[in-house]
Amino acid sequence: MSLTIHRFDPTPCGFPSPRVPLLPALSTDDLLAAMGAPPFASPFCRAGNAFHTRGRYALHDAFRRSGVAPGTAVLLPAYHCRTMLDPAIRLGAEILLYPLRPDLSPDLDALAACLASASRPVRALLLTHYFGFPQAVAAIAAWCAARNIVLIEDCAHALLSGGEGGGAEIGTHGRYAVASPYKFVAAGDGGVLLDNGDAGTGSGGDATLGAGLRPQGLLREGRALLRALLAGRRQRRQRIGPAALAALPNEFAALQRRALLPADEDLQPVSGPSSHYLADEERRAGLALSHRLLRHCARDAVAARRRENYRAWSAAAAALPNCRAVFPELPASCVPYAFPLYLERPFPDFHRLKHLGVPIWRWDEMAASSCPVAADYRLRVLHLPCHQGLHADELAWMIAAVALVVRADASPAQGEQA
Ligand SMILES: Cc1ncc(COP(=O)(O)O)c(C=O)c1O
Repeated sequence: MSLTIHRFDPTPCGFPSPRVPLLPALSTDDLLAAMGAPPFASPFCRAGNAFHTRGRYALHDAFRRSGVAPGTAVLLPAYHCRTMLDPAIRLGAEILLYPLRPDLSPDLDALAACLASASRPVRALLLTHYFGFPQAVAAIAAWCAARNIVLIEDCAHALLSGGEGGGAEIGTHGRYAVASPYKFVAAGDGGVLLDNGDAGTGSGGDATLGAGLRPQGLLREGRALLRALLAGRRQRRQRIGPAALAALPNEFAALQRRALLPADEDLQPVSGPSSHYLADEERRAGLALSHRLLRHCARDAVAARRRENYRAWSAAAAALPNCRAVFPELPASCVPYAFPLYLERPFPDFHRLKHLGVPIWRWDEMAASSCPVAADYRLRVLHLPCHQGLHADELAWMIAAVALVVRADASPAQGEQA
C-alpha cells in the first residue's frame, strides 16, 4: 500500500517564534550535576547501548536489526510524527499503520486485521509510550512473540517513566527500545538504542551496539557546549514575566480583529524520508556531552517538576470550555514529556495560540490511515511543554493564553478562513 502524507505548511500564516522554550535549556546546575551527581540508574544508561544523535537513527538501527528491509513490512502506529516513519521509509519497507484507541493504546483486534492485510512478511512492531504514559506492554509483547514479530518500544517520550503497574521498567519489554534524551535533559542531541536480547531463546542483547558510530570530535563537542550555554543564557534573559501576562488581554483583543491566513495544506504521496532525516547521521555518535548529561541527570528532581507542571495544565484544562486533557490523570509511573491538549476548534484556536507565541508541537504532517483517532487528533491535539526548565511565570502565561483563546468567540474576523 502506498503512503500519502497530509502536508501542513504554516509559512503563509506568519506565526512568530514561540515566547517560551519548547525544551529545557542548559544551565550551570546541569553541568555541575553532570560532573558530580551519581549516575542515573536506567536501562537507557546501560553500558553497551548505542548513543546516536537522535532517536530516529536509533530507530533505523532497531528496524534494520529486526530484519526490516525491502520486501518486508513493519507495523507503525497511525498517530505519529514524520521521524517515526522516516527510518522505515529509508529501509524500503512497506509501512502498515495500525489503529489506536482514544487513549492511544493499540487495539489487538484492529492489529490482527492490519496484519492480515499485509502482503509481505511483517518483521517489527513499534509501540509508542505517548507523552510518557506507559502502555500495557505485556499483551502486545505476547501478541508479537506469538507471530514472530520483533517488538520495539518507542520511549522517545518516556525516558524517565517507570514500569507499568510496578512491573518491569519501561524499555525492557521489547527486544529493542529507543529513547530521545534531548527531550528530557538539556542536551544538544541524543538517541539511545538498547537491545534486551531475545526472551524466547534467552539470548542476551548485543553489547556492542554503538561500536561502529563515529564520535563527534573535540571541536564539535566544544562548539556544542558553547552554543548550549549561550542559548541557555539568552533564554533566561528573554524570559517573559508578569508584564507579559498583564499585556495578554490587549494582545489577544488586537489578534481577534485580525484576519488569520490559512496554512498550505494538501495530501502528497511519499517518495522518501522527510527533510528531518539525514542519512549521514545514521552512523554518527551523539555528543559525549549529551551522553554525560543523560547518565548524570537529576531524575527525581526533573520528574517532580514535570509532574507538577503537568498537573497545573490538567487542572487548568478541566475548568476550560472547548478543550480537554487527553490524559487528565497522571499515574505514578508517568514522567510526562508534554501535556496533550485536545482542542474542539483547531481553527481558529491553534492559529491564535501560535500568533500569541505559545510554544506548540502538533503532528499535523501525518500519513493518512483508516484510524479515526489519528484523523481526529492530527489537528486537534496540541503538545504543550511541561518541562523542568519552565519558570512559574511562563507556565502562568501559557495557561492564561490558552484560557483566553478557548473561551473566545471562534467566529472568524472578516477575511478569515479555515
Ligand atoms: C514518539 C516519537 N518517537 C520517535 C521520535 C524520533 O525522535 P528524535 O526526535 O529523537 O529523532 C519522536 C520525535 O519527536 C517522537 O515524538
